[in-house]
Amino acid sequence: MAEDAILGFLQNNEEIADSHQFAARIEVDHTELENVIKRLNGFEIVEAKDFKKDNYLLSEEGKQYGLEGSPEVNFFLAVPVGGISLANLKAKLDPKVFSIGSSWAKKNGWVEIAKGSVTKKVENVEDKVKDLLKRIEEGKVVDGNDVADLSKRKLIVKQTWRGYTLRKGSKYVSKRKKAATDLTREHLQRGDWKDLEFKEYNLNAQGQPIQIGYLQPLLEVREEIQNIFLQMGFEEMPTNNFVESSFWNFDALFQPQQHPARDSHDTFFLKAPSTTRYLPEDYVERVKCVHESGGYGSKGYGYDWKREEAEKNLLRTHTTAVSTRMLYMLAQQRPFMPKRYYSIDRVFRNEAVDRTHLAEFHQIEGLICDHGLTLGDLIGVLEDFFARLGMSKLRFKPAYNPYTEPSMEIFSYHEGLKKWVEVGNSGMFRPEMLLPMGLPEDVNVIAWGLSLERPTMILYGIDNIRDLFGPKVDFNLIKSNPLCRLGLQ
Ligand code: PHE
Repeated sequence: MAEDAILGFLQNNEEIADSHQFAARIEVDHTELENVIKRLNGFEIVEAKDFKKDNYLLSEEGKQYGLEGSPEVNFFLAVPVGGISLANLKAKLDPKVFSIGSSWAKKNGWVEIAKGSVTKKVENVEDKVKDLLKRIEEGKVVDGNDVADLSKRKLIVKQTWRGYTLRKGSKYVSKRKKAATDLTREHLQRGDWKDLEFKEYNLNAQGQPIQIGYLQPLLEVREEIQNIFLQMGFEEMPTNNFVESSFWNFDALFQPQQHPARDSHDTFFLKAPSTTRYLPEDYVERVKCVHESGGYGSKGYGYDWKREEAEKNLLRTHTTAVSTRMLYMLAQQRPFMPKRYYSIDRVFRNEAVDRTHLAEFHQIEGLICDHGLTLGDLIGVLEDFFARLGMSKLRFKPAYNPYTEPSMEIFSYHEGLKKWVEVGNSGMFRPEMLLPMGLPEDVNVIAWGLSLERPTMILYGIDNIRDLFGPKVDFNLIKSNPLCRLGLQ
């Protein structure tokens, strides 16, 4: 191990002069040794001083000369004792050796080149270039002028290394004890706790991430909204059946059977079971009447109401289907008891999927059923509810729903987006819906609905609904999403 090697060496020696040489000696990579040095230096076990050292490496050409000899020597050796014509010599030699070799051999005064022929001027030459290159390759010291010459000929290239000189540090030990991290029962029993060195606490260390469940942003917002409803005294409605009959989803809401929403382009109808088995008969009869000929002060729609149409099963298109069932049940109880109900659950619409629409989404719905409620009560409760969500600037716009009259769209001024955004829909349920159920005549229902996705996308800054819901949701978003606190601004 590099650490033991360093500490062991320093026990008998004053210093390690050059970490590079030391790394080569103990056959470890210098970068690996450097890590060990830095660690030991940090603990003041060794004292490391860094230095920069110029090191030279052979270029490709330098490597070749180191093996085959320099071109000038090869040129010289190719000249026979009696001389040779330049043309013949050229034919004998590699073109590079000929051109480079001839000029250096001439410069060195080894040969004479005159009148198209070459003759030797000395008997023997030494290959100094080859020897120097070998010395450099072996890491031996070479004279500065020679280094400069070889660099100029591009036979060597400079590389600057950071190296270290090491000496014992103030806390030097010849072998490091492994610091204990825990005091155990065994330490106490054996008594060796007295000699233990404990690892210092790192109070800045991050704890292990805890493996826990995470709430999807939609669930976070849902919980917050649920709390708001509970604080306002609302009870939750049972929304656990996604499959509903057309009767409860549309007919009971005084929505005519020709209404475009009842088309398969807008609604998912079930193939099996395609129809419902049970409907409350006397109530069905009253619903049929109110559609066909009215009553309770209404003219009705004046068409032939078909039971087969009402029996068709579908995936509920709004949670108002649940509200309708609840109001019908409430109407059956004597004496009548005022109620505040809410629900937050999934609904389905046969829509083209795009950045802001999915074929399924969540609706939030609230309703109050009591004697003598007015539109003023609806506006008041909406202002209270939305203020708790952090939206205190509201505007209302007249709207149309088959089952409410009057109806209002709700807009809120969004400070971030700097514009009015539609946040929900609301209204007072029509007498044509409530009276056939058997609710007392002076009882009104005020109600409103909104999507869960829309406020969640605005709150979490998500602009594509597919990033919020469905198979493309990034699990890290769910893990790291911030806590949701509504209404705090
Ligand atoms: N059901 C309506 C929708 O789907 C919302 C709503 C609920 C409107 C209650 C009025 C009253 O948009």
